[in-house]
Amino acid sequence: MKRAIEPTSIERTMRENDFIVSKTNAKGIITYGNPIFIEFSGYTEAELLGSQHNIIRHPDMPRSVFKLAWDTIQSGKEFFGYVKNMSKDGGFYWVFTHIAPDFDANRQIVGFTSVRRCPRREAISKIEPVYREMLQAERAAGARDAIAAGTQVLVDLLNKSGTGYEELAFSL
Ligand SMILES: Cc1cc2nc3c(=O)[nH]c(=O)nc-3n(C[C@H](O)[C@H](O)[C@H](O)COP(=O)(O)O)c2cc1C
Repeated sequence: MKRAIEPTSIERTMRENDFIVSKTNAKGIITYGNPIFIEFSGYTEAELLGSQHNIIRHPDMPRSVFKLAWDTIQSGKEFFGYVKNMSKDGGFYWVFTHIAPDFDANRQIVGFTSVRRCPRREAISKIEPVYREMLQAERAAGARDAIAAGTQVLVDLLNKSGTGYEELAFSL
């Protein structure tokens, strides 16, 4: 069972040239993490390997963002987006992530690879209120309807600005 971690307001900031890399099997179980992934997570490599990737999930992240990410990568496409992660000590760090499927010779998805870079500060300050609104909508809707409610907030915003999520992510 996952240990409950109390989130703190201590932020770790990615350095300009950092790349946080991790790999999972097709079910999201971590199979690889580079040294910077291990450093930011605060866990040991032994603790990370074999764990679900949600081990670094931050409670401020809306569920609907991960639903969008999984729907995208499971359909064989790449996902780009901003994610707030939580370290083992409860601290947090923002990343701009790219997640892509790994295929075998028969085009079957055998796993996923994620490479994260340092996001721009302005992008974080723009996406944070969007995520807050999505999370509020999810909580208000209750567990069963959370994903639909959070997604609706994002869809409304995208319709208003006439963009897709990926475009939005790159425009921030
Ligand atoms: C390659 C890969 C990288 C991922 N990276 C992260 C990540 O950095 N942070 C995160 O919270 N979830 C990440 N996820 C998504 C998690 O698997 C999970 O869906 C998410 O944390 C939500 O957890 P939950 O479904 O238990 O709510 C990643 C998934 C994959 C396949």
